[in-house]
Amino acid sequence: MKKDIISVTYIAVAILLASCGSPSSSNSKAGKWQSFSGEKRIEQRVDSVLKLMTLEEKIGQMTQFSANWSITGPVMSDDFQPYLEKGLIGSIFNATSVEGIRRMQQIAVEKTRLGIPILFGQDVIHGYKTIFPIPLAEACSWDLEMMQRTAEIAAIEAASDGINWTFAPMVDIARDARWGRVMEGAGEDPYLGSKVAEARVIGFQGGRDVNSLNKLTSLLATGKHLAAYGAAESGRDYNTAELSEHTLRNVYLPPYQAAKEAGVGTFMAAFNEINGVPATADRWLMTEVLRNEWGFNGFVVTDYTGTNELVPHGVAKDEKHAAELAVNAGIDMDMTGASFIKYLAESVEEGKVSEKRIDLAVRHILEMKFLLGLFDDPYRYLDEERARQNTMTPEFMETARKAVASSVVLLKNENQILPITQESGKTIALVGPLMNDSINLNGEWAGLGDRNKSVPILKGLTEKYAGSTVKLIYAEGSSITGTTPAKIAEAVAAVRRSDIVIAAMGEDFNWSGEAAVRTDIRLPEPQRELLNALKTTGKPVVLVSLSGRPLDLSWEDKNMNTILQAWFPGTQAGHGIADVIAGDYNPSARLVMSFPRNVGQIPIYYNQKNTGRPADLNNESVDYKSSYLDTSITPLYPFGYGLSYTTFEINHVNIDKKALKTKNDKITVTADVCNTGAVDGEIVVQLYTRQLVASVTRPVKELKGFQKISLKAGESKQVEFEVTSDDLAFYGIDMHKKAEPGNMKLWVAQHAADNSNEIDFLME
Ligand code: NOJ
Repeated sequence: MKKDIISVTYIAVAILLASCGSPSSSNSKAGKWQSFSGEKRIEQRVDSVLKLMTLEEKIGQMTQFSANWSITGPVMSDDFQPYLEKGLIGSIFNATSVEGIRRMQQIAVEKTRLGIPILFGQDVIHGYKTIFPIPLAEACSWDLEMMQRTAEIAAIEAASDGINWTFAPMVDIARDARWGRVMEGAGEDPYLGSKVAEARVIGFQGGRDVNSLNKLTSLLATGKHLAAYGAAESGRDYNTAELSEHTLRNVYLPPYQAAKEAGVGTFMAAFNEINGVPATADRWLMTEVLRNEWGFNGFVVTDYTGTNELVPHGVAKDEKHAAELAVNAGIDMDMTGASFIKYLAESVEEGKVSEKRIDLAVRHILEMKFLLGLFDDPYRYLDEERARQNTMTPEFMETARKAVASSVVLLKNENQILPITQESGKTIALVGPLMNDSINLNGEWAGLGDRNKSVPILKGLTEKYAGSTVKLIYAEGSSITGTTPAKIAEAVAAVRRSDIVIAAMGEDFNWSGEAAVRTDIRLPEPQRELLNALKTTGKPVVLVSLSGRPLDLSWEDKNMNTILQAWFPGTQAGHGIADVIAGDYNPSARLVMSFPRNVGQIPIYYNQKNTGRPADLNNESVDYKSSYLDTSITPLYPFGYGLSYTTFEINHVNIDKKALKTKNDKITVTADVCNTGAVDGEIVVQLYTRQLVASVTRPVKELKGFQKISLKAGESKQVEFEVTSDDLAFYGIDMHKKAEPGNMKLWVAQHAADNSNEIDFLME
């Protein structure tokens, strides 16, 4: 007990001295350390702790264990308790009870020699208890303010439950719908992906200023997975990413860099390799690019057992070698693999890793603990009362409901079957495995969201139409993977007694997320069988598609009258979807990933290259062109696409000058946008450019700006975009980022395949 008191006093004295501004003797050893916050006081406080630490304690800070509540990989066999008691753990994740977290923090702070508090992490991805639509869905709203707010709410809920670090946002560009983790990102575009990365980082961390981390409502965020985890070959999770530095820099790296610019405190190394080097061992990526080029001063954590996996990758002969490669590459913390704590001290003694490198990593980690206020009060994130007051509040529910409605993409709406208003007097048959389901609605990575609390679509529609002229009849018709003739007959009978059918179909939530890859991305056969039977009734069919990825909806596009892509919408699913169906919310979402015509087109994305033999889209059958024999090269639904209950026109696109210089110049583009329909609505006005000639080939289109605006029926507004020469810069033949002279085109468009407003200009 006496020893405990001494240890607590020790650190308190050290911190106190440092905060009074006493020069720290270890400052001279700081080397090139640059503090994340740039604050001298924090540097001194960090040094005052570091100088008390043994080598083993330092390596302990670089070690993270999972609290054995694990859904994300093999459960650790090493019991972490002994390490905790010796003060040899920097962070614990997947600890989910406030009581449990308090107990672990107590051991760290009150029972170890130095009493350094633990950082508690968790995958707070699209909500903590209030679950918002999956990130891919939310990105379809193109509403950055809303995405920032939902991240803020997730942080508010988690930060009173003991969590202070989230492993989000995932900012990996995704061009392959087979890959289950597309659900967790913002889709295929680097520009939009960067904006979303920024919004989410600011949301989680409570602001752009690092001092926001000190708020009791913010979480330390993680930009993940550095880098190009989304480029896994064949969409197979953890697979090799085979891509050039050109593509890496122009397409995949921008969202990570945007996260850095927004002040993200940590990055997570990807599982995959690039150029033969797994990210966890990639010194070029983790040090040259991340630290030296971008100036990142936070800390880098591996992914789950990422260090140990350097052995099966085949770049480390054993786990000790793996730990050395990782730490020398620039990794600061080891997630769950225990290889740092087991081997690094020996590696330092053998001169294979320098103590200076260890000190640097520990400084990065301690600084975050100071910024989060953990040294001032290690228990500040544990507040049952605050949690009670700040969990699933009416305001959070309202935001979640709006998030659902604004993430639902209307893909087809023949004869304006939707909306079905309360006054319509229609009888609607409600069918499908996901109509009365709540378990799947949160999707994967749903934090501590209670799956039983998510509002089923049936409930949402029942409440919406209660007391109205609309009648509802429910028959399930099939489960996700199976049906029987009797179930189909029951559904068909219900449809015959109705005017319209709404079918809620799709994937099991486990079919997307980590290690959830599909090679057939159509609706399961029994569901298509049910849809086919519904179609034979001749009644109009509205398909509500729920999935964690773009599906191959070619058959449905041909055979269904209306398609609403609702993704996995979260806690308020039923209410948000009912708002859209009844016309209380006019759909405003636009796709952020291209929908393929079949799996053979994948990877498919709008910002592709032209090739030397581009196909003529008006006649794709011309031989010896870059096309297919058996399908079009165009997607079923392009990036940026989505319908509304109204229609829009974009006219009078103008540019203030026909040429701009490669440096410090800009053009202003204006366009008139008109709501040509009979109801109010929102449009995402999208600005694309193309550089026709450059030192390297450039994409056929690149998003460079967007504005989501609302227009009353019949209303017109002028939108204005400013495009600077910097916005048009890219990594050219010399791998330096700059704008190059050349002929250019731009479009102000409703989606990526809309070429109606094209303007030529010049980069001089
Ligand atoms: C593995 C996943 O790739 C990563 O995104 C996640 O944060 C960790 N597991 C921790 O759960």
